[in-house]
Amino acid sequence: MNTSNSTQFLDILKAKEISENFGSPVYVYDETILKQSAQAVLNFPNAFGLTARYAMKACPNRSILKLFHDMGLHIDASSGHEVHRAIEAGFEPEKISLSAQEIPGDLEALLGLGIRFNACSLKQLEVFGQLKPNSSVGVRFNPGSGSGGNNRTNVGGVSSSFGIWHEFVPEVQSIAERYQLCIERIHTHIGSGSDPQVWLKVALMNFQLVEQFETVKVLNLGGGYKVGRMPNELSTDLQVIGEPVRKAFVEFAQSTGREIHLEIEPGTFLVANAGALLAEVHDIVSTGSDGYNFIKLNTGMTELLRPSIYGSQHPIDILNCDQTGQGIEKDYVVVGHCCESGDILTPASGDPELLATRNFKEVEIGDLVVIGGAGAYASAMTPKHYNSYPEAAEVLLQSDGSLKLIRKRQDRSAIWENEL
Ligand code: LLP
Repeated sequence: MNTSNSTQFLDILKAKEISENFGSPVYVYDETILKQSAQAVLNFPNAFGLTARYAMKACPNRSILKLFHDMGLHIDASSGHEVHRAIEAGFEPEKISLSAQEIPGDLEALLGLGIRFNACSLKQLEVFGQLKPNSSVGVRFNPGSGSGGNNRTNVGGVSSSFGIWHEFVPEVQSIAERYQLCIERIHTHIGSGSDPQVWLKVALMNFQLVEQFETVKVLNLGGGYKVGRMPNELSTDLQVIGEPVRKAFVEFAQSTGREIHLEIEPGTFLVANAGALLAEVHDIVSTGSDGYNFIKLNTGMTELLRPSIYGSQHPIDILNCDQTGQGIEKDYVVVGHCCESGDILTPASGDPELLATRNFKEVEIGDLVVIGGAGAYASAMTPKHYNSYPEAAEVLLQSDGSLKLIRKRQDRSAIWENEL
């Protein structure tokens, strides 16, 4: 068994209890791990104060939002809809920062509630200026360089449409002057699963932007901290990466007299390894001696899309029900339940087009399967209704060991309830 950090909170007894009570597939989140990661984020080294935001797009279930709210995290929202969702879950509007690709239709009303806004393009800054002249605003810049776990999650540099290109400072200043805007915050986010060294380099480069705006009081360095989901993958240590950042804030204050407040907004770091997807072996097929052995699950891209689009790697444990440990080991490709050949849970690393195998012992139909690292961008990011599969349930494994249903399995008829 390939037990990794991100699956070990579910042993066979707990997994059985969950599948018997709530069915499968089901997402399971571990309250203790959620709290530990929130605490690690809140402890990020800082010189003149820290606001730690949760990038709620990673896993926006209301119970998780409430848990993070109660621990003192604020919110990074990526759409107007997310802002409403966070408010519904109990977040005070002033704790919500919106950095969106699309201007919400009700931006004026949201600003009226008191949310913070980051203009992510010159057009957005212009629209903000028209709605709220003589006020304060943040600006998201593309600092010119980025880093992601793969090319699709790199959002810095010339190939990325996110944020205002760093050379367009004069354009930003002229819009700010036209509407008497005070640029109070600079924001950058360069990618997800970033290389810690590149993240650090770009974080420090941001002071060049802060220097050009005398009114800036807050620097938001985004999220993107790499989390190892597989046992051989390393995770970013926030203390290690944060210390040089803290020093840079101190040095900037010494040379300019400006004490800048730090914001960070991780998503993955807070939830990735606090969540697992519990499923079942539904079928086992083979394509002969020159082919592959396939394990088909009762889940797949409908609950976890990341392997299919990024070739991302998630630990998979098969919890063999008879536990004799006698069976023979075999290499298997693990696939999902959609009529879609790309529904693969074990692609080659970084290449969703290629198959890779994993070695498992005595797999049987009906065995329970735990897929780890499924707290971030799993439930939040699925083509869940493909092949008309209903939305899976979500369960919180509370710190006292009890289980709490935090999203019920969708009724089948809800899939087509909006059709006319
Ligand atoms: N801040 C902004 C402005 C963002 O766009 C994001 C993520 C974050 C913070 C949080 O980044 P994180 O700490 O989660 O890396 N679907 C991909 C990740 C896409 C993230 C999009 N933006 C994945 O499954 O890895």
